[in-house]
Amino acid sequence: MQLTLIQNQPRLGAVESNLEAARSIIEHIDFDLLLLPELFATGYFFSDETQARQLSEPVPSGPTTQFLIDQAKAKGAYICGGLAERDGAQLYNTAILVGPEGLMGRYRKLHLFYEEKHWFAPGDRPPKVYQLGNARVGMMICFDWRYPEVARILTLQGAQIILHPANLVQPYCQDAMVTRCLENGVFAATANRIGTDMRADSTSLAFTGRSQVVNPWGEILDRAPDAEPAIVTVDIDPARADEKYVTEHNHLMHDRRPEHYGLICGTK
Ligand code: ACM
Repeated sequence: MQLTLIQNQPRLGAVESNLEAARSIIEHIDFDLLLLPELFATGYFFSDETQARQLSEPVPSGPTTQFLIDQAKAKGAYICGGLAERDGAQLYNTAILVGPEGLMGRYRKLHLFYEEKHWFAPGDRPPKVYQLGNARVGMMICFDWRYPEVARILTLQGAQIILHPANLVQPYCQDAMVTRCLENGVFAATANRIGTDMRADSTSLAFTGRSQVVNPWGEILDRAPDAEPAIVTVDIDPARADEKYVTEHNHLMHDRRPEHYGLICGTK
């Protein structure tokens, strides 16, 4: 499977030109599965709830969703990317998965970062796994990396590839994802952005690039630079993530002892 990531530099609030920039890249690349960053068409660092609401869209009728569906149809392939979802009065930081037949699924970010809490509601559904041809994929978004439960619950549902749209601002995630892959025996693709979102009041947030794909043995198959737009393309065999024996006596999943992990599943 050809897995491709776009590391972009959206302009805050400029949805049309950000989508146009994505279109001009997608036109010229081949992939079976394409991953775009979190909030790839809106930018990230909204000023307030009003701006977040203006830039949000219903799924699947909104412009970013329709754009991705059009691209997936044109390419006969699958695409995952992030957007601000509006559902009634609520806004969610959402990743969608689309294919040639249209919308396949959505994941609403469970663990909100920083001022996102001022406008987004935390995800209200458990992460799910989707079958794409012969591959099984799950989604998590950016700061979810700090919560190993997300990658684990996807793995326990059979995910072979974790799709991880991101807008990373702290320096630790790319290396931490190596551990997520090792502890779960899965592939993980992190599509991050670069550049800085600047608000009218001059407060800003800078993003760290280094989009990457890591294999189930914690090897970084490819990693983009930290400050340039990039396209990362790797060829992977998703079935390699089904090999959970790490020695002939140790199966990553069968050796778990959930009867001793009760506290992790507690509500407090
Ligand atoms: C983040 O969750 N966008 C840092």
